[in-house]
Amino acid sequence: MQEPSANALPVNLEDRFAALFGDAVSVERPLSAGSMGARVSGIDLNVPLRPAQVELLMDTLSHCRLLTIVGQDLDRFSLASFERFANHWGAPVAHPSNFLRGGKPAQQDGASDGAIEYLPYADRRAAAADTILPGQVACLPHESPAVLVATNLLGQDDRKEFRLKDGGTWHTDIEYEPLPLYVSMFLVHHVPVARDAPNGQWIAPPAASGPEPYFPGSDDELMARRKRLPLNGETAFADTAAAFAALPAAEQAKLETVQLRRRLNAEDEGFLAPLVRTNPRSSVKSLHSPVWASRPGVRPPIEVDGMTADESREFLDGLEKHVLQPQFRYDHQHTPGDVTLWNNYMSLHTSPPIKIGVNKAEDARLLYRLSCKGKPCLVLPRDDDPSWIDTHITGGYRSPDSIVGVRR
Ligand SMILES: [Fe+2]
Repeated sequence: MQEPSANALPVNLEDRFAALFGDAVSVERPLSAGSMGARVSGIDLNVPLRPAQVELLMDTLSHCRLLTIVGQDLDRFSLASFERFANHWGAPVAHPSNFLRGGKPAQQDGASDGAIEYLPYADRRAAAADTILPGQVACLPHESPAVLVATNLLGQDDRKEFRLKDGGTWHTDIEYEPLPLYVSMFLVHHVPVARDAPNGQWIAPPAASGPEPYFPGSDDELMARRKRLPLNGETAFADTAAAFAALPAAEQAKLETVQLRRRLNAEDEGFLAPLVRTNPRSSVKSLHSPVWASRPGVRPPIEVDGMTADESREFLDGLEKHVLQPQFRYDHQHTPGDVTLWNNYMSLHTSPPIKIGVNKAEDARLLYRLSCKGKPCLVLPRDDDPSWIDTHITGGYRSPDSIVGVRR
């Protein structure tokens, strides 16, 4: 039997959407110049999904790597509804920016250890976003520690003056835990619509600079690919399934034997994880987080099992350079009301350069992110074993009954 290809899209997808969601639903794919992404319109996620509908959305993501379900009405679609939807894809995890660990912010410095204390919304950094453009931009109400607010509306200390902030580093979400994040998703509330930079875009290209935020020492072409980021607030993705599919069969076979040692803190022994993953639903193979140091200074670089530190870097820099080639890239333009999901095993992503210290709604960027671990679930509430939750979900977080209902 022929192996499924990352570029072979599932047949009859459009017919299945019409049969399960009605004729008003439309599907556009792919969204990238390659084969990544599907955009579905005409689905109201405020209405709980039937199991067959959830299954179709999962099939779509398993092939397309990224799925955006547009047009949610934010007057009705709450963050509780968003978290309920997320529960189908895995158990939502609490985000480190929403809790203290051992009495200090959980993502501060390198080390993360100690007792977890969830912060009420009013005490989170994100709450400052509500004070900057009063009457124009405010977060949707929430207290859930699983909701990460991604915004350029920041507190007093951070917005003394207008400036440009560089984009982030290429990564996947929380690959440094033994069970990595499977699906992450955004709900989009505000996007920058100003196009007042001299180049006619939201921001001008950042001036050429040193290697920061990356470590020095990578080759020039890799650095250039890393830093070629979109200028209108798009989230940048790279398709690691198409990148794997493009390699010669002999190299694919070799990569499938590679194990990576990942760790949370530099002093940890860490754990081995496969470089190549096979999607259990579509059987499409992909590279999972083939990046030597995706969070420089925050998490330790990874090692390839059987290689020295230098060899590991050289090997992984080579793979990152391959994955970040233009033909595997996709810059996703957000639109308010979009729910956009991506499979972390099948992609890399990074945040774009953004304006900070803004004072106009047309510069505001405000998105909510939820991330999920573990097995998908067609019917809610999830039935995760309490010991599984304790092992894999930091702080033992579970979406409350008020969001996901009560098991009957
Ligand atoms: Fe991320």
